[in-house]
Amino acid sequence: MCGIVGYIGPREAYPIVIEGLKRLEYRGYDSAGIALFDGTNLKVSKTKGKVADLETRATQEISKTGNVGIGHTRWATHGVPNDVNSHPHLSNSGDLVIIHNGIIENYDALKQELIKRGYTFQSDTDTEVLINLIEDVKKQEGVKLGKAVQIALNQVIGAYAIAVFDKNKPEEVVVARLGSPLAIGIGKNEDEFFIASDASPFIEYTKNAIYLEDEEMAVIRFHKGVKVRKIKDDTLVDTYIQELQLNLEQIEKGGYDHFMLKEIHEQPKAITDTYRGRLLRNEAIIKMAGVEDNMKKFLNANRIIIVACGTSWHAGLVAEYIFEDLARIPVEVEYASEFRYRNPVIREDDIVIAISQSGETADTLAAIKLAKSKGAFVFGVCNVVGSSISRESHAGAYTHAGPEIGVASTKAFTTQITVLTLIALRLARAKGTITSSDFRQHLLELEMIPKKVEKALQSDNNIKIISDAYKNVSNFLYLGRGYNFPVALEGALKLKEISYIHAEGYPAAEMKHGPIALIDENMPIVVIATKKGHYEKVVSNIQEIKSRKGKIIGIVTEGDVQVKNLADHVIEVPETLESLTPLLTTIPLQLLSYHIAVMLNKNVDQPRNLAKSVTVE
Ligand code: AGP
Repeated sequence: MCGIVGYIGPREAYPIVIEGLKRLEYRGYDSAGIALFDGTNLKVSKTKGKVADLETRATQEISKTGNVGIGHTRWATHGVPNDVNSHPHLSNSGDLVIIHNGIIENYDALKQELIKRGYTFQSDTDTEVLINLIEDVKKQEGVKLGKAVQIALNQVIGAYAIAVFDKNKPEEVVVARLGSPLAIGIGKNEDEFFIASDASPFIEYTKNAIYLEDEEMAVIRFHKGVKVRKIKDDTLVDTYIQELQLNLEQIEKGGYDHFMLKEIHEQPKAITDTYRGRLLRNEAIIKMAGVEDNMKKFLNANRIIIVACGTSWHAGLVAEYIFEDLARIPVEVEYASEFRYRNPVIREDDIVIAISQSGETADTLAAIKLAKSKGAFVFGVCNVVGSSISRESHAGAYTHAGPEIGVASTKAFTTQITVLTLIALRLARAKGTITSSDFRQHLLELEMIPKKVEKALQSDNNIKIISDAYKNVSNFLYLGRGYNFPVALEGALKLKEISYIHAEGYPAAEMKHGPIALIDENMPIVVIATKKGHYEKVVSNIQEIKSRKGKIIGIVTEGDVQVKNLADHVIEVPETLESLTPLLTTIPLQLLSYHIAVMLNKNVDQPRNLAKSVTVE
C-alpha cells in the first residue's frame, strides 16, 4: 500500500526520494508527492498518477534542491485519488508537513474538533487531520515537534507510519509507527539518515537500519542521531541497528521484462534456499529450530488453524492436505479477515500458523493478535525478515524466497508450500505417522523439485501459444482435485489479478453442482490432471467438459496419453509424489497468466487497484 521515503543529510534529497519512491512502486499506489526544504523554502509537488508523472510535475513546479525531503506514494483510502488528496499534506500554518501510511479511524471526530477551533481542510484525507492535530497540540501546549507528535498520536485510533517535519526546524524529522512498517537507514558516521517503508529505497547508501516497533517514534536529527521513544509513556528505547542482508541485485529486474517473470524463474533457487540447511537427506532428518524448540506444543496440539489471505491462504489450503495426510493433525484454514471478526473458538492447545509473504498483512496480523490473546501458540511463516507478523509470532520459519516485488505472488507461494511441507514431514516423523522409507522418499523427491521446476519452466513456448489462443476470452475456469484444488484457485487468482480476465477455481467434482452451466465452446477450462491423485476421476470430469464443447487445457504428467487425447492443449510437468505436485502444477499456471497479461498489454508488476502488501483492513 502507501510507501514513504525520506532523507536528511548532506546530499540532494530529491533524487534519493524519487528513486526511493520508484523502488516502492510495487506496493501499489495511485498518486505520488514530494516535499523538499532548500534552506529557505518548503516546496511541495504532488499529483495523481505515477512517480514518472510526479517527476514531470515537479520539474514544472519546484526547484529540486534541498537536503531534507519526504516523499509518498498513496493508495487511496479516505478520499478519491486526486492531486489534492495526495501526500504530503501541510498544516494550516504551512509550517508542518507530513506523509502517512495507514488509516486514522477517528479522523472525523478529530476533524470536527479542529474545525470548531478554526482549522480548515483542503482534502478529504485523514492525514490532513493528523497534521493539523499535531500543529494544534504544538501551539496549545507550547512543545517541540517530537512532543506534539507524541501527544497527538495518543489521541489517534488507527494505524500509521508517518514522517513529519517543521520548515522552521528542518534539521529534524519525526517518524512514528503503529501497524505500518517503517525503517530508518543510518548513514556512515551517522551523518545522514533515510526513512522508508522498507529498506529497498536506501540499500545502496547504507546496510545499517533501525526498524521501529509498533507504538514507537523517533526524532532524527541531522548530525545528532536518532532517539527512539515509546509513544504511550515516553520511555527511551534502546535501539538495535540491524545489518541488512538485502542487496541491489535482488531488487532489480536482472534482464527480465518484469519482476513477475524474474520471480517465476527464480523458483528453483528460491525453493532450494528454503530447504537448505533444513532438509538433511543423508542424515534423513529435517531440522527447523522453530519447530524443534516447540515440539512438545506441536505434538500436543489439538488442531492447527491456518490464517492467511490471498495466495498465502491458498498455500494454507495445500498445507491442510499435507498436514492431515502426513502428520494426521486436524487443520482448519481460515481467511484472516473472517477469522478475526467472527468470535472463533480458540483453545490453548491450538496452534495457529500465520502465512504471509510480506509479514505485514493487516488482517493476518490482527488474527494472530486475537489468537494470542486467547492463549494459542502462534507460528509465523513469513518471507520478509523482521516483519510485523514474524515479530508478533511466538516462533516461526522464514521462507527465504528473497524479495518478491511483482504484486502477483509466485515464488512466495511455492516456498511457503516448501516450508509447510518440511514442517509436516518433521511432525509426521516425530509422531510416527510416516514410515521411515516414505519419509526418505519425500526428502529425496523434495530435493529434486528445483530441477523439476526448471523442467516445467521449459514449457514456456507452448504456454505462449496457448496464451495467444485464449487471450481475448472473458472467462476462464480452473479445476483441480485434492492437493491440486488449491492450485486451481491460485491459477484463477493469478489470471484475474494481472490480466483482469474473470476466472474461477473449483474442485473438479464440484463442477457438476453449478459451474458446468457456464461451459460452452467459448469457455477455456484449465484442468490439473496429473497422474497421481484421483487421475481417473479427473479424466471423467474432462469427458463431461468435452461433451459440452468446453476448451480443455490439461496440466498433465510427462508422457500422459489419456488426457492428451481428450484435451485441446496439454502442458506437461515432471512426475513427483502427489503431495509435492502443487510445486510443479502451479508453474504453468503462473506462466499462462503472465503471458496473457503481457499480450493484453497490462501492467503485470503493478496491476490496477492492487497493493503488494495490504496493510489496511
Ligand atoms: C497474490 O498474488 C496477491 N497479490 C495477494 O493475494 C497476497 O497473496 C495477499 O495479499 C497476502 O499477502 P501476504 O502473503 O503478504 O500476507
